[in-house]
Amino acid sequence: MKIYGAETTTDEVLEGVNLQGRHFMVTGASSGLGEETVRALSSAGATVTMVARNSDKLDAAADRIRTSVPNADLQIGLVDLADLSSIRTYAENVLQDQAPIDVLINNAGIMACPFMTTKDGFEMQFGTNHLGHFLLTNLLMPAIRSGQSPRIINLSSAGHTHADVNLDDPNFETSEYNAWESYGRSKSANIHFTRELVRRYGNELQSFAVHPGVILTELGRHLTPELMQEMVERVKARSTSSAEAKETGGLPFKSMEAGAATQVWAATTDDLKESNGAYLGDCKVGVEGGNPSENGYLPYIYNEDTAKALWSLSEQMVQQQFPAN
Ligand SMILES: NC(=O)c1ccc[n+]([C@@H]2O[C@H](COP(=O)([O-])OP(=O)(O)OC[C@H]3O[C@@H](n4cnc5c(N)ncnc54)[C@H](OP(=O)(O)O)[C@@H]3O)[C@@H](O)[C@H]2O)c1
Repeated sequence: MKIYGAETTTDEVLEGVNLQGRHFMVTGASSGLGEETVRALSSAGATVTMVARNSDKLDAAADRIRTSVPNADLQIGLVDLADLSSIRTYAENVLQDQAPIDVLINNAGIMACPFMTTKDGFEMQFGTNHLGHFLLTNLLMPAIRSGQSPRIINLSSAGHTHADVNLDDPNFETSEYNAWESYGRSKSANIHFTRELVRRYGNELQSFAVHPGVILTELGRHLTPELMQEMVERVKARSTSSAEAKETGGLPFKSMEAGAATQVWAATTDDLKESNGAYLGDCKVGVEGGNPSENGYLPYIYNEDTAKALWSLSEQMVQQQFPAN
């Protein structure tokens, strides 16, 4: 087993790995970590379906990838994760093609936006980050189950430490909206979803939740100066290794290539078979109570009852039950 860490890059993870004949689907592939994930997987020979909601942005990202990987085998999928009907239409088309999906990387995300709702009336961060991926994944399950050693990777975050899911008020109807609390709930949901997938599907598939680190991407597009300041203070307070970290404005930013490395590792390594369902960070298995800026997580994200209850609530919210038990 190779030993990796915070500065390991996507290309280092994939050194000597041949992904020809493997089909990956990556949501949120039109920028940031999603785009870098697609670039890296393509450079190792994978076929990759790039999914996002904006056709022009997706095409531009695919063009950038083809500049560095001329033979990249890319497909484009348009879906708005904040719109259940868009997800259903897309999944139906994918299933009609009958092409297996070996690995689904649920990477799309929105962070700390003002209170907004999805097309179906769900609070935007929970609706997009969790419910959209919950529905997409479950609808695509026949294609995933027919894949070669199938895997589902869910992008979470150290932001799970802000809050666990609120099963009584997922849409902030009775609690006062807070942008960071909402992000935390949605990123905790990504981990509960991962754990429940593994509980339901056992050894039939692997699933991991990933904290990528702190990387400068478009994710911060909704940050006000106040929300930004809160984030800087929080990340600085938990940074124990600022000497090692690349200091930029006080934040230990990772490069894009190091940021996307953990999800690429989770999607491709054979070293995680004994850790199915784990939370990962810095290309390592998570540690309960460890530093959240690295691979540390809070114990509530491994609560089996919460994971089961979130699955049931999510089924009610998308008004569809999924057969696996
Ligand atoms: N960057 C970090 O420091 C960091 C830290 C922890 C966790 N993460 C997680 O990493 C993941 C990737 O984030 P990133 O930093 O790469 O951010 P990003 O550059 O903003 O990329 C997010 C992607 O998600 C897509 N997306 C957002 N809403 C969507 C929707 N309703 N339907 C379909 N696609 C949608 C975006 O498309 P549009 O441009 O069209 O909106 C974009 O392609 C997220 O899940 C995030 O929570 C990032």
